[in-house]
Amino acid sequence: MTHSDVEMSPSLLIMIAGAKGAIGTTVALAAAELQTEGAAAILSGLTTAEKFADLGDPRRIVVAGWDRAVESLAERIRLHGVLPESAWKDHLPAVDRCDIRPAPAEGAPLADQVDVIRHDIQAFMNRWPNAKPVLVNLLPAACDSEQAQRMETLEDLLRMEGPLLPDLGYTVAALLSGVPIVNFSPNTVELPVICREADQRGIPLAGRDGKTGQTYLKVVLASAFKARSLCVDGWYSLNILGNADGRNLMDPERACGKLNNKTRLLDDILGYQVGEGYDSASHIVRIDYYPPRGDAKEAWDVIDFKGVFGMPMSLRLNLQGRDSILAAPMAIDLARWAAALKKAAIGGPVPELGFFFKKPVGADPAVTFQDQLTALDRLESKIGSYQPQGKAPIR
Ligand SMILES: NC(=O)c1ccc[n+]([C@@H]2O[C@H](COP(=O)([O-])OP(=O)(O)OC[C@H]3O[C@@H](n4cnc5c(N)ncnc54)[C@H](O)[C@@H]3O)[C@@H](O)[C@H]2O)c1
Repeated sequence: MTHSDVEMSPSLLIMIAGAKGAIGTTVALAAAELQTEGAAAILSGLTTAEKFADLGDPRRIVVAGWDRAVESLAERIRLHGVLPESAWKDHLPAVDRCDIRPAPAEGAPLADQVDVIRHDIQAFMNRWPNAKPVLVNLLPAACDSEQAQRMETLEDLLRMEGPLLPDLGYTVAALLSGVPIVNFSPNTVELPVICREADQRGIPLAGRDGKTGQTYLKVVLASAFKARSLCVDGWYSLNILGNADGRNLMDPERACGKLNNKTRLLDDILGYQVGEGYDSASHIVRIDYYPPRGDAKEAWDVIDFKGVFGMPMSLRLNLQGRDSILAAPMAIDLARWAAALKKAAIGGPVPELGFFFKKPVGADPAVTFQDQLTALDRLESKIGSYQPQGKAPIR
């Protein structure tokens, strides 16, 4: 298979908001690698490579999207430094062919942003008519708008004035174009009105905030403590990272959503408030920007817990991860789930994908690791048992 074969007939079209970011560029490189002899190394890092056979060859992915950055995708790959040059230099011709368009003007009315993005989405879908399209939101963490939560209709939202998440322009444009949405960012795009519309239009909506490293392990460990009735008394989580996401999260207002997403789930899993009875919180999550690390994030956890007779014990965990290397295959997996859900006419918020997210959308998402895996299996069976009814979703 050559790059131009895939360009001619891809099976999946991943449209990325924030395509020139650390994760977006890594997804583009993974898509390029999938078309080479190195494909097996990427396929083995996906959880969906053996699933959803009717979506077509998982190696045939094209990446398109938008970004505010003016540098070329290749220059951004170099700047992010996620991979050494030797790993990507052969992919530059494929990367150069990715159709990444300028983001709509900052501060433009939401309706105008949506028009621009819808036009681009249509152009991408015309160029690759046989590929299943999915929007993956990889915009930076930003401050939410309370007012947007109260909008009752899409028209009200489109008319809203004042600062709005740029993510909403992409989300609404995808909804109106019939394109499934994966929100990997910590930003709240699942407003009540968006969820309702996604439901009515049969558009899968997955999110929020990818669970890549420390929080993924926190869910596993917390579920294990709960299963053994060990009482968690305190949990101190520290992260250092030196990429653009880390720099952005230095702003306390932008970091606030992310910290909430990382914090709430522990009590939800355990079923009690960790550290209740102390005069201050004993579940603490810190994120610090530390430039020398770039994308090579490091996380420490100190977990204090108690056994019978109240005897204290403790555990140390040190994760030396790589942010975008962990996140990029998840973004591809999620795009494949979203495309498979759309094909099976399963729309609306998808809480069953909570395995992938810190703050799953939808009603009553499973919280423990075991329940999240079970929910995922059930969702796969539901997709597999789908029989077309001939009833078209609203467009
Ligand atoms: N890496 C992880 O492990 C991880 C885990 C969970 C969530 N996330 C979230 O995923 C998102 C992406 O992470 P990243 O490391 O790629 O971030 P990044 O900062 O490297 O990339 C964001 C990109 O969005 C672009 N951008 C900004 N505003 C835009 C707009 N209005 N339209 C289009 N593009 C715009 C930026 O120019 C940049 O290229 C962040 O919100 C991050 O918090 C990351």
